[in-house]
Amino acid sequence: MSQRPSYYVTTPIYYVNDVPHIGHAYTTLACDMLARFKRLDGYDVMFLTGTDEHGQKVEKSAEKAGIPPLEFCDKVSARFKDLAVAMNFSNDQFIRTTEDRHKLAVQALWTRLVEKGMIYEDSYSGWYSVRDEAFYTESELSEGEGGEKLAPTGAPVEWVEEPSYFFRLSAMQDKLLELYNTQPDFVMPKSRLNEVKSFVEGGLLDLSISRTTFSWGIPVPNVPGHIMYVWIDALTNYLTATGYPNEDAPNYKKFWPANVHIVGKDILRFHAVYWPAFLLAADLPLPKRVFAHGWWTNEGQKISKSLGNVIDPFELIDSYGLDAVRFFLLREVPFGNDGDFSRRAFVLRCNADLAKGLGNLSQRTLSLIHKNCDSAVPKPGEFTKEDKELLNNIEATLEIVRGHMDRQAFHAALDAIFTQAAAADVYISRQEPWVLKKTDTERMNTVLYVLADAIRQLAILIQPIMPDSAAKILDQLSVTERGFDQLGETGRITVGAPVPKPQGVFPRLEMPEDAS
Ligand code: MSP
Repeated sequence: MSQRPSYYVTTPIYYVNDVPHIGHAYTTLACDMLARFKRLDGYDVMFLTGTDEHGQKVEKSAEKAGIPPLEFCDKVSARFKDLAVAMNFSNDQFIRTTEDRHKLAVQALWTRLVEKGMIYEDSYSGWYSVRDEAFYTESELSEGEGGEKLAPTGAPVEWVEEPSYFFRLSAMQDKLLELYNTQPDFVMPKSRLNEVKSFVEGGLLDLSISRTTFSWGIPVPNVPGHIMYVWIDALTNYLTATGYPNEDAPNYKKFWPANVHIVGKDILRFHAVYWPAFLLAADLPLPKRVFAHGWWTNEGQKISKSLGNVIDPFELIDSYGLDAVRFFLLREVPFGNDGDFSRRAFVLRCNADLAKGLGNLSQRTLSLIHKNCDSAVPKPGEFTKEDKELLNNIEATLEIVRGHMDRQAFHAALDAIFTQAAAADVYISRQEPWVLKKTDTERMNTVLYVLADAIRQLAILIQPIMPDSAAKILDQLSVTERGFDQLGETGRITVGAPVPKPQGVFPRLEMPEDAS
């Protein structure tokens, strides 16, 4: 039986009211890098993504498209699945909230909350935003230009009056505050924890969790006419995928509670307040962390369909290649901060770190080996201080990267790896193997061996972010063992391993003509 530690990472499930854009790709990419890293680091990983298919917003979009809701969901959900393939996401499951297993899980959670006395019947009258699928109090609203009421997100709200079941959220205030105080890593980054804390300290109202004025949702058990509020439905997906309500299911036992829910800052309140409140009330274990990342703007503007500036991830991949897209999104902006997308920044970053950086280093090294060492990794002589320093520093990078990955500091993890690529670049310039070719072939062999092994290790380390490019580099070095246990001396590159004529891995990108 496998003794590997488990790791469960989730993305938000995306509304199918709209086709995927760069924001959706971003969150899932971050989870993908984490999942791939943990697998290589010896964990048994479950990585979940999927689509959120119920609620008024989706019902209205289907109506607008003139097709039945489920048919509409099938179509849009398929686009998210296409995105997962195009982005090379390694998700273990793709959940849809219209699946039977999910209905079962949500109804079971509801029943459990009823049994615990946490749900009661009343009626709701107040403001609701369909775009946000959220309730707002009068005091949260502002006035738009035409005098209309707006949610803090800028979304329009409408007055709703209907019979509804309520969750006793107000009763959970103390338990939630205790959670934030005793487990400050429950919400990250820290600034977000403070936001959540002050929201909860401000007092919590009970939450309306069923709707009666439309029908596109999961029925409340034993109560005809009520469907569940889309957020209690959606959040439960994280449990459904583990096999809940069967608490003996192998994946429930192995993976629940989740290690981290990665979400955008827009939906932090649902994940850091409502979700733990439901779980605490149901007496179920809590996820270990909710990490909220920032939002991308496009050349300084909010990304929105109405502004016509939505960045299509499929188009980006076509223009620049998949791994450049993957690299840029996580390298450019500290994870947790907002970031501005610009093609100029994209091209500059990818050319500096990939084409001129790691790409050029491996191309030069492999060509020198191919030409001067009979197309095979040469036998090294004694290592000098510089040789050892380079290899040891690269080997030590894993521990540094591990620390960053455990705090979802993806940019810092990449920075640590690319700092070593830069060190290898300095090494090749100082050692000048092209000069040694004429003066000291034995030393040239050692230098090229050291570089080949440095590149092998760097390629192993970049697998979570650029799996295809890493594989191309490792193929060219005839390296088959690619786990993190192969870093350092254990996996040293084999003398005599074939090195064919190298193919460029990171093409130089053209600066778009209109880039400022
Ligand atoms: N269905 C809910 C989530 C339910 S999870 C139990 C939802 N869906 S959504 O389709 O609106 O996706 C929201 C998520 O998409 C954000 O939290 C974020 O992860 C991502 N992004 C959408 N636009 C974004 C940007 N412009 N920038 C970065 N990420 C953004 O909310």
